[in-house]
Amino acid sequence: MLHTDEWWRDAVIYQVYPRSFADSDGDGMGDLPGITGRLPQLKELGVDAVWLSPFYPSPQHDAGYDVADYRGVDPRFGDLGDADKLIAEAHNLGLKIIVDLVPNHTSSEHAWFRAALAAAPGSPERERYIFRDGEQPPNSWTSVFGGDAWERTPDGQWYLHLFDVSQPDLNWGNPEVREEFLDVLRFWLDRGVDGFRVDVAHGLIKEENLADWTTTSTILGGVDPAGPPPPMWDQEGVHEIYQSWRSLLDQYEGGRILVAEAWVAPAARLARYVRPDEMHQAFNFPYLDAPWKPAELRTVIDESLEANNAVGATTTWVLSNHDVVRHASRLGFPVGSPRVPGIGAEDPQPDAALGLRRARAATLLMLGLPGSAYLYQGEELGLPEHTTMPDEFREDPAWERSGHKERGRDGCRVPLPWEADAPSYGFGPADASWLPQPASWAEFALDRQQGVAGSTWELYRSALGLRREHGLGHGSVRWADAGFAFRNGGVLVVTNFGAEPVELPAGARVLLSSEPLDGDGRVPTDVTVWAVV
Ligand code: GLC
Repeated sequence: MLHTDEWWRDAVIYQVYPRSFADSDGDGMGDLPGITGRLPQLKELGVDAVWLSPFYPSPQHDAGYDVADYRGVDPRFGDLGDADKLIAEAHNLGLKIIVDLVPNHTSSEHAWFRAALAAAPGSPERERYIFRDGEQPPNSWTSVFGGDAWERTPDGQWYLHLFDVSQPDLNWGNPEVREEFLDVLRFWLDRGVDGFRVDVAHGLIKEENLADWTTTSTILGGVDPAGPPPPMWDQEGVHEIYQSWRSLLDQYEGGRILVAEAWVAPAARLARYVRPDEMHQAFNFPYLDAPWKPAELRTVIDESLEANNAVGATTTWVLSNHDVVRHASRLGFPVGSPRVPGIGAEDPQPDAALGLRRARAATLLMLGLPGSAYLYQGEELGLPEHTTMPDEFREDPAWERSGHKERGRDGCRVPLPWEADAPSYGFGPADASWLPQPASWAEFALDRQQGVAGSTWELYRSALGLRREHGLGHGSVRWADAGFAFRNGGVLVVTNFGAEPVELPAGARVLLSSEPLDGDGRVPTDVTVWAVV
């Protein structure tokens, strides 16, 4: 029997980064029991589902995106019993759980890769990865984190790693790899998870001849839609993999979903991942990347909705995640600045107040759109990037591999502040956190915001409640004739990007506003308002 529960179409999904969410045992590293203990607060915030970044056994060379065993829990985070409890508690609260699946590469400590290194060139063990002979690297590809994408083994063969040297790419041409991942999916589906976020979903299949490619490929920079198709991204062959996964998921009840992390443009190309027999959702990175400009935002909104409508999929919206500078800091740079790969103390610093003001307006705009929205832990606190972290604390492999050109992603991964006056701001029972928390974070702590009118946490909570009440998630966008304003069902969403205050239509009743209106009831600069007219 096929199941078609479509809860995800308008869901707000909250990303938990397990290392940095809540630490139950005081070792400075978040863990599964810590997350379980805080789930009631996510319920209170009003989200529908939680996506957990990887918690599997891993040497943690890429913060867990280097998986050594797909069917376990890293002892740093707990054990399988803790995962079961987390899933059960989430379901008790009416929250769905999505886990991260990392199929493009394993850790170099995965049993398969150890066996591959121990076996001879040409062996079935090596056929699970992408090994090649040669005096020189087999082609000119570079790693997303910097440096060569090939590493030489002691016997002279090379293996491909699009990411860190400790993340060898799997050979998806090998049926054994396909079987293994179907089995991994079954393992977690049987444990009750509601879906999978698929890491690097556009990378699994490489062009057959591994043709040279000299354009620097930054995954997070995406693919230039005008240029030639890169031989490692968005190859046609990825789609049959997702079709086979979809067939499996549809055999389970309760609406189990797949969401693609695919840095693919334009929107119509990305929408191919969410055709009716493939994935359910794909992260809308063109939206995340759009500048704080009305024309550009309107274009990306229209293109996204059109491309997804054409394949019958829901559109997603996202502003922050564990790979990008938090939007409260990103939006504090001059409008139109390119997105930077991390910020250090010597780099230009964002305007924090402006960034937060725009971030609140951007969030209210986003949550006014129909479809599904992804939130990244801490954005509901208005949390900025840690922009002055001393470099010695950095763990992102991009920092070393780029020869210290990219600060990397640690600044958006700092453990959360829950209580202003507690050690580690209540992240855990001890004064320990795996990345240092800025001294200024007391003011962002949850206990300084809950019940405080106008706080960012209360803004998110109100927005999520009103979004549900007014059915915004399954509405549509009808643009007003002037300014940046649209109607979604009975709600008018207005954002003021200009220098002058904007009048609301006569008789408008304001539901929510990202900052107070001015004395004449007008919408000030960098403010979003929801109103009924
Ligand atoms: C994805 C993840 C990122 C990770 C990379 C390699 O882009 O979001 O954190 O480093 O894949 O797995």
